[in-house]
Amino acid sequence: MSETNYDSIFGKLVLDQGFCTEEELAYCKKQLKDRAKENPATLEQLLLSNRFITANQAKRVKQVSKESTKEGKDAAEQIPGYKIMGKLGAGAMAIVYKGKQISLDRIVAIKILPRRFSENPDYVKRFYKEGKAAAKLNHNNIVGAYDVGEAGGYHYFVMEYVEGKTLYEDLAKGKIFTEQEAVAITMQVASALAHAHARGLIHRDVKPKNIMINSAGIVKLADLGLARDAADVELAKSEAGKAFGTPYYISPEQIRGEIDIDGRCDIYSLGATLYHMVTGRVPFEATTPSEVMRKHLKEPLIPPDHINTALSAGCSELIEMMLEKNKNDRYASAEELMTDLEAVRRGEPPLAARRKFNIQDLQQLQDGQSIETAEEFDQEAQQATLSRYKVVCVILGSIIAVLLLLVAFLFASK
Ligand SMILES: Nc1ncnc2c1ncn2[C@@H]1O[C@H](COP(=O)(O)OP(=O)(O)OP(=O)(O)O)[C@@H](O)[C@H]1O
Ligand SMILES: [Mg+2]
Repeated sequence: MSETNYDSIFGKLVLDQGFCTEEELAYCKKQLKDRAKENPATLEQLLLSNRFITANQAKRVKQVSKESTKEGKDAAEQIPGYKIMGKLGAGAMAIVYKGKQISLDRIVAIKILPRRFSENPDYVKRFYKEGKAAAKLNHNNIVGAYDVGEAGGYHYFVMEYVEGKTLYEDLAKGKIFTEQEAVAITMQVASALAHAHARGLIHRDVKPKNIMINSAGIVKLADLGLARDAADVELAKSEAGKAFGTPYYISPEQIRGEIDIDGRCDIYSLGATLYHMVTGRVPFEATTPSEVMRKHLKEPLIPPDHINTALSAGCSELIEMMLEKNKNDRYASAEELMTDLEAVRRGEPPLAARRKFNIQDLQQLQDGQSIETAEEFDQEAQQATLSRYKVVCVILGSIIAVLLLLVAFLFASK
């Protein structure tokens, strides 16, 4: 069994309660994946068998999980104007329900912040930011924002209901997408990003869990929870040094906690997602989050066409350009990326990526040529020095010979 939603919530709660370390959790998640086929287990069983948590702690975690689900449902039922229809899922800091907005008779998704988070002003602030950020946007590939508010001490956020699945669900099952499928999905996310970036918003947490695909095959980018107004320097400063995103898809500049990040961090994360789609692997894998982050910063990327040889050279170049460690070497904008994605889709070379690779090749060539020229130059210089030396020797020799003749002549005439 690979990681299920239950495992992922269990893992988060174990960490929240401080029962194990991030490293211990990552170790068990790796085990979960490695033994998925031969000897499946749940995350809870692995945490127990490795003695990272005790049986009592496991019981406590399940109790908390049950309470928060009940708590969330009770809260959702208190929101005026909506009827709760069932649970859709749960993430790191919220539970999402399916509901009906009675006035408009439409199905919606309602995100509820559990009470234990509602007491934390930082979480609440981020929760409202998500609502406000999403409300600024109106795009077919972005989950629409409808409403945000508070009822009975619980904060909620009402959004467009996406009937379908997240990209994560397919990837967790080990699906490898064809180049055409992956490019088509990436194109729609890039279009959503171009829209958000043009309005000064950076998503900052582009990852498979936040990419939903509805039943008509339309891609919807969700969770602008970490989206930040590019001009929000104060928030940027408070976040400096804290890597909020998920390590598998996070950009190097977010790991470094740079405060002047821009839309190119979303291009990196989308590149990591595309890499995962076409190779079945995340770009940098390791047993601990800090090791994954170190690799994002330092380790060269294995070109995706070395893993999936069916991939076109153009698609591989495009992904490599999205995943450049230095943001200046990446696509400058989501629009520029879209042009190359469109070219790859048509089976043509991605011109921006090619141009960059050509420039690099040219530079190497030029550097190479200048070394040859320098060698040639040295040789020529050596030869020239030699010739000059020979000329000087001949002249000196001639002078000495003339002088000797003169002396001999003088003696002879005496
Ligand atoms: N608008 C929506 N329509 C339908 N289902 C949704 C919608 N938004 C979220 N979901 C479901 O609810 C789940 C939880 O979403 P949430 O954004 O809280 O966390 P996440 O993105 O899965 O994980 P994390 O908290 O680690 O980022 C999602 O995985 C998805 O299955
Ligand atoms: Mg989400």
